[in-house]
Amino acid sequence: MGRDPRLTTHLALTARALGAERMFLEPPDPALAERVARISAAWGGSFAVEGVDDWRSVVRQFPGTVVHLTMYGEPLERVLPRLEGSGPVLLVVGGAKVPPNLYRAADVNAAVGSQPHSEVAAVAVVLDRLLGAPDGKRFRGARRRIVPQARGKKVVGAGSRR
Ligand SMILES: C[S@@+](CC[C@H](N)C(=O)[O-])C[C@H]1O[C@@H](n2cnc3c(N)ncnc32)[C@H](O)[C@@H]1O
Repeated sequence: MGRDPRLTTHLALTARALGAERMFLEPPDPALAERVARISAAWGGSFAVEGVDDWRSVVRQFPGTVVHLTMYGEPLERVLPRLEGSGPVLLVVGGAKVPPNLYRAADVNAAVGSQPHSEVAAVAVVLDRLLGAPDGKRFRGARRRIVPQARGKKVVGAGSRR
């Protein structure tokens, strides 16, 4: 069974919404990157999806801590104190098959619970723990903004759509 392309889109949108600056995607998917760019243009911030031909060069050249998210890793709670205030963090998640040498290439292998689940959930939990609740400052330049409501939908901005 092939990978559901919606999952990669959900990964990008989740990373963006919870505060990531960019997503490196191997193999590149220009159509997906374009869809996410349109969403960022409307909803603000500078998040972008950057296609890469080889994940190894991204990991090797990253000027910070490389954290591979895997259910086999150290519990996130144990890893977090090492990441807080340590500079830039690259979260790496797998798709259908994770290359074994990623476990060695990463600075840290971290588990969000020692049970199998999803890369989208893992990224969401780690970003939430690292960055806290999103605030409007992350989404400067938005053309469209939600006004939170107890019931119903309110969106302000040019060309806002429901
Ligand atoms: C659905 S899993 C597939 C894993 C793949 N079958 C393999 O060879 O290990 C996709 C990705 O979700 C992430 N993931 C799943 N469960 C996790 C957990 N408990 N903690 C951290 N990351 C997790 C990992 O990044 C994993 O590579």
